[in-house]
Parts: sequence; structure tokens; C-alpha cells
Amino acid sequence: MLMDQQCLFTPGPTPIPERVKHAMNQPMIAHRGSAFPMLLENVSTRLAPVFGSKNPVYLISGSGTSALETAAANVIEENDNVVVIVTGAFGERFASICEAFGANVHRLNIEWGKTCCHDDLENFLNSINTKIKAVFATYCETSTGIVNPIRDLGFVTKQKTEALFIVDGVSCIGAVPMDMERWNVDILVAGSQKALMLPPGLAFIAFSERAKKVIGMCSTKRFYLDLNRYIASYEKEKSTPFTPAVSLIFGAQEVCKMIEDEGFENVIKRHHLLKNMVRAGFTTLDLPLLTCDDDASSTITSVITNNEKTKQIKSGLEKKYGITIAGGQGKLKGEIIRIGHMGYCTPFDILKVLSGIEMTMHDLGITNLLGKATSKAKEVWIHAL
Ligand SMILES: Cc1ncc(COP(=O)(O)O)c(C=O)c1O
Repeated sequence: MLMDQQCLFTPGPTPIPERVKHAMNQPMIAHRGSAFPMLLENVSTRLAPVFGSKNPVYLISGSGTSALETAAANVIEENDNVVVIVTGAFGERFASICEAFGANVHRLNIEWGKTCCHDDLENFLNSINTKIKAVFATYCETSTGIVNPIRDLGFVTKQKTEALFIVDGVSCIGAVPMDMERWNVDILVAGSQKALMLPPGLAFIAFSERAKKVIGMCSTKRFYLDLNRYIASYEKEKSTPFTPAVSLIFGAQEVCKMIEDEGFENVIKRHHLLKNMVRAGFTTLDLPLLTCDDDASSTITSVITNNEKTKQIKSGLEKKYGITIAGGQGKLKGEIIRIGHMGYCTPFDILKVLSGIEMTMHDLGITNLLGKATSKAKEVWIHAL
């Protein structure tokens, strides 16, 4: 068995297209030289439609968490009241970051596996009798595989408060719709190693004019993640205040080309198809899905593996077939498996991972399932053509 072919189905990092690898191999350029401003401006403006932003997207060298921290550090002042919608491990992380910056965090806790709906947020905001500086939400909650209805949540935030609406889009931006202005999103953050088909190491942040004013006035101590430095450097010379991850930015430029070549609407549709194929496949394997169809992300699928045999699927799949998927996180550790299907992922890739799962289940003694999930997924695909 050739085990060196990449079969990565984790919800980040994700596979890197050859043409992106090639772009990242270009000779290094000086970030204070003449070529870099063109590169940065090109990437920042071409990413804007993917972020649904009217303004350029800012790039910071760091993982997704650095983008989350940037959003908090540039808005929160000690003792500010903020609401954090917690639908899983990453909502919890946003809440912890806000606490680290001295905020009074009002957690809106939602059962893991469910989304926060319009009424949940409306009722919660009604119950708080203090001025809220910002509402934080997670677009795709990677630990469970749900997508929160950001448009509705932005609407309620705007209707009920003067707070900024700040969204973690790390595990879905590049694969899902977004319209920052219409949806009232003031700050949107993402990471490179998910639907944006890049290696880990770049954080992206887009913000509204309203957020820019708050960022400009925020007196919280910060240095590397001070967005005012990035804004000044971009506006003055289309550069970054500190040495940027140039190779990753070359890669990001190629990613923009790939998204434009396919058409962003088609990218979104492809992810829908991948979601529908995976979900239909699993329904034939007697493995319950954690989320309902409407709440489920088009980038990640979580499947309940709550008996001794199914708990071994993840390790069997990796050891024997070289296919890597993810397990559960936090409260769901040991309870679920998660299949990432975002970025550089095709319907044939879905047939591959489903085949591997059928075969692993067979190896574990769960027989009579060979071909079931893949047939169902193929039906979904062929009907979508
Ligand atoms: C929704 C979400 N937010 C934040 C992060 C943190 O990103 P990183 O691990 O790149 O710091 C992740 C990573 O999986 C994520 O999925």
C-alpha cells in the first residue's frame, strides 16, 4: 500500500493545491522592496469579495487564534461588557480571550451540536441591563460542525444594541456566503489552513468603518496585534508593520485566482454538494449525525461514534488506509468523529473517505455495509449534475 498520498480530511489543516505550492516556491522578495506592495494590495483586495467586505482584508502572520485575539485586543477595554455566543469549543475560546482582556463576559451557552437562533440571542440581550460593547459569534463551530445563522444574529445585534458584531469565520470563510455590510458584521476573522487552501500561519481580518473607529479609539495595551499599525502601514505604503509571511501571501494570491477561476458562487455550491454527499453516505452506515441538516456546516460533518467498535474508526482509517480524519474536542472528545471537507476537496475525495470508512467498519466486524455509503453519495452527486 502506498501510504504517502495525501488523504487529509481534518477540519484544518487541509490539502494544499499543487499550483498554490508552486506559487509559494517563488523566489523570496523584500517586503520593503517595490514588488511587495503590489502583492499585498492584490491579495487584500481580491480576498474582499470572499469575506463579503467592502474594505481590504488585513493579513497578520499568526494562526487563527491570533486573529481572534486581534479582534478582542482592538475593541475591548477593561470592564467592558460583551456577549459571547458559545456553541462549542471555539466560542468558549473567544470567551476566554475576551476575559483575558478584562471584559465582563456574558456567555450565551447553547447546547453543543445546536445553533444559536435569532430568538436565543434576542431573549439573552433582553435579559442584560447594561451597555454591551460587542457581541461575539462563531460562524462555523468546528468542534460540532454547525453553522450559526450569522445574518439573523447580526440583525438582532443591530436591532437591540449599539454593539459591534464580531464573527469567527476561521473554519468556513472561503466556502460559505458572507456579506459584512448587509449582515451587520463589523469584524470578521479567518485563518489560512481551512477553506482558504493554504498552510497554517496566516490570519485574516476584515472590518467595517464603524469598527475601524472603535479600533482607533481603543486604549488597550497591545503591540504586534495592534490593528492601527496594520492600517497605517497599509494605507501609507501597502505594506505590513512587521515582516510578513511572504511565501504564504504568494500562495494566497494563487488561491484568489483559483476561487475566481471556479467562481465563488460555484465554490459555495461545491461545498454544499460535499456536505450533502457525506451526510447521505453516513445515513446508510447506521452512524448518527450530530447535527441536523439545516444547522450543518458545508465544511465539516460530525458523526456520533458511541460504541466500542465505532470509536476505533478514526485510528483504523489512518493506520490501514492512510486517511486522516479528526476526533471530538472538549466535551465531545471520544464521542464523535469529524470529517473536514473544505477547500481543495472534490466529490471524488468524498467517495474516497466514505470508501475508507466502509472498509474500516468492515475490518471492525460491522459487515454488510460495503458500497452502501459510496452508492448513496454517488446518487446525490449525479442528481446534482
Ligand atoms: C472556528 C475556529 N476558530 C478558531 C480556531 C483557531 O485557529 P488556530 O488553531 O489556527 O489558532 C479554529 C481552529 O480550528 C477554528 O476552527
